[in-house]
Amino acid sequence: MSHKRVIVAIDGPAGAGKSTLAKRVAEKLGFVYINSGAMYRAVALWALRLNIGLNDMHRLEQLAIAANIELRSSEDRVILNGEDVTDAISDSAVAAAASKVSAVPGVRRALLERQRSMAEQNSVVMEGRDIGSVVFPGAQVKIFLDAEPEERARRRALEMQDSGQNADMATVAGGILERDMRDRIRREAPLLQAPDAELVDTTGMSLDEVEDTVLKIVRERVSNGREATR
Ligand code: DC
Repeated sequence: MSHKRVIVAIDGPAGAGKSTLAKRVAEKLGFVYINSGAMYRAVALWALRLNIGLNDMHRLEQLAIAANIELRSSEDRVILNGEDVTDAISDSAVAAAASKVSAVPGVRRALLERQRSMAEQNSVVMEGRDIGSVVFPGAQVKIFLDAEPEERARRRALEMQDSGQNADMATVAGGILERDMRDRIRREAPLLQAPDAELVDTTGMSLDEVEDTVLKIVRERVSNGREATR
């Protein structure tokens, strides 16, 4: 048994399949799954509820500092200030607000330390936009998960329909593209592929194929719990 903690960073645009994949990979490896986007969504939800302007950097930073966010990894629930907000944050309006809120440097600062501390005790699979580039630049495994925009929109629409939400393809596609653009062009920790991240284009791949590909990359980069010398 190895004592070294392993970090698997999975980044990529919306609808690339990060959450589904990260959960499966974490389960296979026995690691803790952490959805960093859920933290930005929780802050965004609170801001929307309090009617705080999404360009009010100071108040948004205060909210992020004050927010008590608990990720119950094994049950896949998100708790904000004691309330289960898992369903509330899956809303597309919250996703759009999260993308705006996450551009605020003070908000990112407030969440960064918490994200780092979550990997202190356990090996983790953490998904987001800046995990391999900013949160854990030294992660042993970095995956950049991508897919054609049409496919990402289709997957996200199906996922929303499955959970009983209204999802018109054109609207979903527009929302995703707008969010990706904002996430890519922001100054602070933009969405990008880290130089040492492995690109996995999932267009046309089944979930099983993506999982196999990613587990193979993990095995290549981590041997016997030690960082592979490469
Ligand atoms: O992964 P997600 O769709 O739940 O993320 C929601 C928003 O949060 C996303 O549009 C950008 C932001 N985010 C971020 O800036 N950095 C992360 N590590 C994760 C999410």
